[in-house]
Amino acid sequence: MGSTFSTLAYLVASVLFILALKGLSHPETSRRGNLYGMIGMGIAIVATLFTKGMGFGGIVLIIAGLAVGGTIGTIIAQRIQMTALPQLVAAFHSLVGMAAVFVAAAAFYAPESFGIGTRGNIKAASLIEMSLGLAIGAITFSGSVIAFAKLAGKMSGAPITFQGQHWLNLGLGLLLLLLIVLFVATGNGLLFWLIAILSFALGFLLIIPIGGADMPVVVSMLNSYSGWAAAGIGFTIGNLLLIITGALVGASGAILSYIMCKGMNRSIVNVLLGGFGSEGGTAGAGEAGDRPPVKAGSPEDAAYMMKNAQKIIIVPGYGMAVAQAQQVLREMADLLKKEGAEIKYAIHPVAGRMPGHMNVLLAEANVPYDEVFELEEINPEFADADVAFVIGANDVTNPAAKTDKSSPIYGMPILDVERAKTVFFVKRGMSSGYAGVENELFYRPNTLMLFGDAKKVTQEIVQALQR
Ligand code: TAP
Repeated sequence: MGSTFSTLAYLVASVLFILALKGLSHPETSRRGNLYGMIGMGIAIVATLFTKGMGFGGIVLIIAGLAVGGTIGTIIAQRIQMTALPQLVAAFHSLVGMAAVFVAAAAFYAPESFGIGTRGNIKAASLIEMSLGLAIGAITFSGSVIAFAKLAGKMSGAPITFQGQHWLNLGLGLLLLLLIVLFVATGNGLLFWLIAILSFALGFLLIIPIGGADMPVVVSMLNSYSGWAAAGIGFTIGNLLLIITGALVGASGAILSYIMCKGMNRSIVNVLLGGFGSEGGTAGAGEAGDRPPVKAGSPEDAAYMMKNAQKIIIVPGYGMAVAQAQQVLREMADLLKKEGAEIKYAIHPVAGRMPGHMNVLLAEANVPYDEVFELEEINPEFADADVAFVIGANDVTNPAAKTDKSSPIYGMPILDVERAKTVFFVKRGMSSGYAGVENELFYRPNTLMLFGDAKKVTQEIVQALQR
């Protein structure tokens, strides 16, 4: 009964995982999507406990693992700041990678338990799956550790490049393939560990040349790798659910990486070859030579002008997330709506530091979904907006993306805020955004800078509106 029950339960869990992915594709349905995922995982765990041949010891081990992992996960989830999510995801991927390495080792040293042969006499197909799971898992592990360190600021986000880097990586990649072929032919234990060591080194070398700005794409790609590693291991241990889940994670991660690259108008190859993006450069007004001086306004000025505006488009960016200004931003919008203004929010596909970053924050602040618009929908509307209120966004508004062929963001679609009658930029100083390029919009005659922390400035605007 065990195996029929497990197969059926795994099928139900797979369907729930697919529904989870579908739900997560829109903020309105994302909570439901999460719920489907949780139920699916619950079913998968129960089904695994009932797997044929699962002894008492196995059940105790699984429950102990769940208790330890579940406790750690709960504590982390409660404490994590929204802005620290990208590095947390990177850290979690490293664990998935390491798990794949451990499962491969377990399958290699105790093949009987997995029904793939006997020690020293493992089926060739299983050796192929095992070595692929091992290699991808190890690359995912060390790559994710570097991505975590860069995103968390534990190491410099600047690309680390040296001469002959790509040739070295290519050479090591070919050597890895050769080792895998030899391993499959001989089943030799030393080769197993050489594959592991080389893959750890390759993961490290592949990620160090990639700049901090491209890390979210890398995290999503590593997510994809971890899915494929899990699928590979699923084949080795003959677990249908692991194969399906791994393939879902692998495919969705790959699609997400593609969408992000498109949003930045970069090719995936260009991202992977690295060298792009500084650590939030600081091209300042002082270096601008013959630029006109910037005009700084006060929260009172902003409140006065917006009180008299008919149409206001709000453009949130990474700084809003850092300041956690979404709640007070919605309060400001509510007050302005009472004054009769039409309010819309414009979301750039790569605003912030992770996909959907701004949507999640606005949803958290209960901003109505029908006021939130994507780039293509909202761009034509800036021309008849009285105010573009840019809060903590920078690169996603930079017209250099359209005009300056030498700019690293050239070709990236941007929000046309400059077409609004007045543009407010809420930010702390003149620093550039993540791509490290200066934004000439700050110097335009219709721009007013509102210097300060996004939450504080918006709070002051709210107070001025209430007076
Ligand atoms: P950015 O261009 O990075 O600009 C954010 C601005 O926020 C900075 O100029 C900073 O200026 C300001 N800021 C920081 N903390 C603040 C605070 N507490 N209060 C007020 N302002 C604050 O952000 P963006 O416009 O959202 O663009 C996103 C960038 O990330 C793009 O270059 C994009 O390509 C890159 N990226 C995003 C993703 C995803 S998926 N979202 C993926 C890969 C890359 P001050 O220091 O002067 O305050």
